[in-house]
Amino acid sequence: MTALLRVQDLRVRFPVVGSLMARLTGTKEPFIEAVCGVSFEIRKGETLAVVGESGSGKSTIARTLIGLKAAASGSIRFDGQEIGTLSVTERKPYLRRMAMMFQDPVGSLSPRLTVRSLLTEPFRIHGLKDRDADAEAARLLHMVGLPADFARRYPHQLSGGQARRVGVARALALNPDLIIADEPTAGLDVSVQGEVLNLLTRLQTELGIAILIITHNLNIVRHIADRTGIMYLGRFVEMGATDEIFRQPRHPYTEALLSANPNPDPDAVLNRIELKGEVPSVLNRPSGCEFHTRCQYAQEICRRVSPETTSNSVNPTHSFKCYFPLQLTLLSAFENRRLPAPGG
Ligand SMILES: Nc1ncnc2c1ncn2[C@@H]1O[C@H](COP(=O)(O)OP(=O)(O)O)[C@@H](O)[C@H]1O
Ligand SMILES: [Mg+2]
Repeated sequence: MTALLRVQDLRVRFPVVGSLMARLTGTKEPFIEAVCGVSFEIRKGETLAVVGESGSGKSTIARTLIGLKAAASGSIRFDGQEIGTLSVTERKPYLRRMAMMFQDPVGSLSPRLTVRSLLTEPFRIHGLKDRDADAEAARLLHMVGLPADFARRYPHQLSGGQARRVGVARALALNPDLIIADEPTAGLDVSVQGEVLNLLTRLQTELGIAILIITHNLNIVRHIADRTGIMYLGRFVEMGATDEIFRQPRHPYTEALLSANPNPDPDAVLNRIELKGEVPSVLNRPSGCEFHTRCQYAQEICRRVSPETTSNSVNPTHSFKCYFPLQLTLLSAFENRRLPAPGG
């Protein structure tokens, strides 16, 4: 199947203006490499989760996809068309098909606009003025399970969960093929988190929308994402089917992220692993494998040479970047090799 979105070797930088380093070296302006050579694809109707600690470059990827930030290099293809090199105007028809839910929903909803104006703003931005705003607002609110009279409310009159629903409704306004949801459950109670995730899953099933879900919390993606990519300092260190990432993580960082969250799965055999130390600064990246400073398995080579991305021999769609990946347990190796049931 062709990819809806295909990102190849994407690099995104921020200039570090007036930094100490710039003054000390006196040479050319140094850059933060927020995203360094990221590749992934999302198929129609698929959910991909991008997971990583704060500062790993998740929001920067999202902002680059929708053209708020220019890529330093790499390719972004949407439905087969290279959009990374298009001008703002040329990009607009594609941006209509990609809706963004920004991090911090209340903060990203203009406080002076009513929910009705917020929901119909995308029509105005894209020059679709002939739509009946009241009818459209009611339709969108209904899709996300909110009463029609919410159209008259202002953002400060919404709870966190309601604001998130309005964010989803706004994203749905132009009938997108892809929703990019940046930390859609951050700051919500666990029960409300579940509601928002269920809402996204339902819309995906009913409308066939692909979702790129961005989060620092690996546990929330378990039941929503088809595939999951784990980011560390602007790179994917592991990527694969979500089931497999949870059942059989190969990268020590993934293992640590999994063990940091309470895991209700009785089959999980991971011991609790404390991630040592701080996330290193992207201005001062560790040599070799950038995770080695926090990795309990690090050896000499990890400190010196950056590992290539390798694939699991039994499942080439599961990739990881590590010299000493966690071993497949016998059970998982067997499951991975298991042939499809006859007729299924
Ligand atoms: N506007 C900006 N100017 C300079 N640096 C930025 C800017 N936005 C993000 N960064 C830097 O890029 C890196 C990735 O940030 P971000 O994409 O927001 O990470 P995440 O969403 O995973 O928390 C961080 O080191 C951050 O400090
Ligand atoms: Mg972010």
